[in-house]
Amino acid sequence: MSYNPEIPRSRYDNYGDREWTRLERDGHGELLYHVHLDILKRYIKPADKVLEVGAGSGRYTKDIVAMCDELTVADISSHQIEFNKSKMRELSLIDRIEAYHVLDVLDMSVFQASSFDCVVCIGGVINYLLDKEKDGIQELLRVLKPDGILIVGVMSFIGASLYYLEGIRHEKDISGIEATGWIFDTGLQDGVHYPSKDKHYVHMMRSAEMDALFAQFSVKVQERSSAGLYTQAGDTALENARNDKELWKLIIEKEIEFTKLQGTLDCGMNIIYVVQKL
Ligand SMILES: C[S@@+](CC[C@H](N)C(=O)[O-])C[C@H]1O[C@@H](n2cnc3c(N)ncnc32)[C@H](O)[C@@H]1O
Repeated sequence: MSYNPEIPRSRYDNYGDREWTRLERDGHGELLYHVHLDILKRYIKPADKVLEVGAGSGRYTKDIVAMCDELTVADISSHQIEFNKSKMRELSLIDRIEAYHVLDVLDMSVFQASSFDCVVCIGGVINYLLDKEKDGIQELLRVLKPDGILIVGVMSFIGASLYYLEGIRHEKDISGIEATGWIFDTGLQDGVHYPSKDKHYVHMMRSAEMDALFAQFSVKVQERSSAGLYTQAGDTALENARNDKELWKLIIEKEIEFTKLQGTLDCGMNIIYVVQKL
């Protein structure tokens, strides 16, 4: 199945404010937020010119803008860009944003090569690109300065298959074991094997695929992390832990620590790679 920009565009044009609350409305969102924030804080420097692409509603925009010298925000969805603007206005951060662009990560010709010290593309943009994943990484690296840092976060197939096993069982009853086996083998939810009404066609990824993707470029992988590892405890256990303040504080600390272990890399809901352009 080939990449169709209409799929992410129409999905996120019709999202309302769900994206803004996604990272704080439950324990899973909070885990994702803290792991990403820890990585952003460690790699973004005060003098950096940063591009955030696939920024969505701005949950990370509001933090990144305080970490760097200059932040440019981009997204394929004009709705998400307008929403992001309105949130930054509300937070009195709008004047700190250098520019907003509605664009596809595959075509960032509005930016010259080697424009940014750091490029952030987290929250699954790459999963939508299907046959164009390599082109997406190439374009992200093109706009990055030599020695610059690219932070990419994708949805993890193995992590999602653990968490959504019950849903997979229902899908199997509809589509059959062969289609389900194909999705397990490839991570590809496409129109043939997963004919969903909302057309959420994505390539859920494994860390080995991320390694293979980046091996095609002149980059040094600085860090690999999972995110949303304790999500696998299940919604009830997670919410109970979250209601116990001292336990939740410990879980967040351990989520940040354990997601850096090689053995957990594919087991969370997201996989994050930090690479340096050589
Ligand atoms: C799940 S949201 C993540 C938002 C934010 N980065 C976060 O992690 O909270 C994915 C965002 O990527 C955007 N997106 C998807 N495909 C894109 C593409 N090809 N180019 C630019 N943005 C894209 C969507 O419009 C959406 O706002």
